[in-house]
Amino acid sequence: MTPIVHAQHVTKSFHTAGADVATTVLRGASISVLPGEVVALMGPSGAGKSTFLHILATLDTADAGTIEYVCKGQRYDVVRAQQSTITTLRHSSIGIVFQFHHLLPEFTALENVMMPGLIRGDAEADVLHRAKELLQSVGMEHRLTHMPRELSGGEQQRVAIARALVNQPQILFADEPTGNLDSDHAHAITDVLLTMSATMGTACVIATHSSELAQRAHRVIRMVDGLCLEDERG
Ligand SMILES: Nc1ncnc2c1ncn2[C@@H]1O[C@H](COP(=O)(O)OP(=O)(O)O)[C@@H](O)[C@H]1O
Ligand SMILES: [Mg+2]
Repeated sequence: MTPIVHAQHVTKSFHTAGADVATTVLRGASISVLPGEVVALMGPSGAGKSTFLHILATLDTADAGTIEYVCKGQRYDVVRAQQSTITTLRHSSIGIVFQFHHLLPEFTALENVMMPGLIRGDAEADVLHRAKELLQSVGMEHRLTHMPRELSGGEQQRVAIARALVNQPQILFADEPTGNLDSDHAHAITDVLLTMSATMGTACVIATHSSELAQRAHRVIRMVDGLCLEDERG
């Protein structure tokens, strides 16, 4: 099977104001993810997981290395492609849940989840249906009209996960999506992600410290000091 994303030898350094030397965060990280595969990206804090996820999700650029997507029969060379092509790829095929969930404060939970579908121009009735279904699957059907400030951190995180899935992405990148959640809700989110993968073929790359997620993922990739070291087939 052709991987949906294949990244090789990705490097990244940050230049911090006031410091002479750059901080090297990624030292040649590589990853390959098959359609529908759920990969847990584990490793100590500071290993480079968030940086790697941002680059894979096309929100930041690599200094060197290659990143290739194959989505809906089309090949994308992320390093060489024009920004407009990357934006198209991101909007059509990539879902993103990051630690800071960035819900829009002026919109309700339901409107936040619907937003990516409406921006893409899908029919409102379809988007409404998908958004309600997703909010139900993350246990938030009783909070549809709440504003983000009226939700707890964990509830906001669940809404952000529903929002990331509303456009039915081919691949979802999630940075510690269960980090703020108690074990019941973490378990529910894990179920949602695995169900999406099984029923819709959504690939997931999830940075996590959760042993439950690691156990239930198809594969665990361990990141240490800017490299993907182990690659255990589960
Ligand atoms: N924008 C940045 N500027 C400077 N250093 C950064 C920046 N982003 C991340 N880092 C550094 O890169 C290292 C890896 O960070 P990160 O990717 O967030 O790791 P992880 O998610 O595995 O905890 C950390 O030491 C962090 O301080
Ligand atoms: Mg991180």
